[in-house]
Amino acid sequence: MKRGSFIAFEGIDGCGKSTQVALLREKLSRMGYTVDVTREPGGTVISERIREILIDPKHSEMTDECEILLYLAARAQHVRQRIVPALENGDIVLCDRFQLATFAYQGFGRGFPMERLIELNEFAMGANVPDVTFVFDIPVEEAFNRMRKMNKLKDRLESAGDEFFHRIHNGYLELGRRDPQRVSIIDASRSIEEVQNEVIERIIPFL
Ligand code: TMP
Repeated sequence: MKRGSFIAFEGIDGCGKSTQVALLREKLSRMGYTVDVTREPGGTVISERIREILIDPKHSEMTDECEILLYLAARAQHVRQRIVPALENGDIVLCDRFQLATFAYQGFGRGFPMERLIELNEFAMGANVPDVTFVFDIPVEEAFNRMRKMNKLKDRLESAGDEFFHRIHNGYLELGRRDPQRVSIIDASRSIEEVQNEVIERIIPFL
């Protein structure tokens, strides 16, 4: 049986990727594909528990090193318990965030050395690289406005500051420039329909 397709979705908080993933799931299911939608951190019982620790605003004392290892621990479990078996089954795996988030947030955002991150990440996930990663590109101010409108602008994010999100945003674009074969940047400041049409057009060669 053909190995399935592994597709990841990235962007700063508020870029609209989760909406796009949900729409894509419907579309691909209607086309007859078996689709497994999952997310990081999360996707398995253990990884979802790690997620709770990571996003709890009470854990402000968490060190950068602890944060990195927790994201990677969640990934190590997720890849082996869920993603690899789904791909072996021939499914399409749509993953809301994956390795690029670690490079963008912990690398460009927090300033952790990239070579170390790449090495640690390889230990966590082995050779299970997504076939393609879509990065939803939206200006930081617009992402914040969207989240404000939806009442989703969490304290944790606001307190991290604009600068942090500008570094992450630029980091994603830089990661796209470094690996254009595997990273596809999409202008996400357009309407939901326009963005969805482009995602579908660009995804077809990877199915
Ligand atoms: P989400 O809100 O898109 O589900 O992601 C949760 C948060 O985790 C988001 O702020 C991005 C962050 N994150 C990292 O900092 N590093 C990572 O490796 C991953 C997967 C997520």
